[in-house]
Amino acid sequence: MTWHRVCDKAELKEQAGNEFAVAGRVIAVFVQGSNLWAVDGMCAHQGGPIAQGQVDGSCVTCPWHGWQYDIETGCNLLTGKQMLDTFTVEMRGAEVWVELPDAS
Ligand code: FES
Repeated sequence: MTWHRVCDKAELKEQAGNEFAVAGRVIAVFVQGSNLWAVDGMCAHQGGPIAQGQVDGSCVTCPWHGWQYDIETGCNLLTGKQMLDTFTVEMRGAEVWVELPDAS
């Protein structure tokens, strides 16, 4: 696992997803106040852009076909199964950093 700088916190939109390409993968970052979450940015269904989905509380809805996920757990709300990878994300001063698995 390796930590990567994602962005400055000031770049993040609340009540929406924020999409970044980091270390060769797409991640979706969500912020609500001082809370941050990061999940795989590609939908488990057909790769839709999770960060472009509508956010309602802890739920994000994929814009392509409506699959819904919990942004805290990566679980699909219909099946209850984790279908999006989740990543540890934290603030370091004004910067957002995420820990991602190393490429195999
Ligand atoms: S690609 Fe996300 S619901 Fe189909």
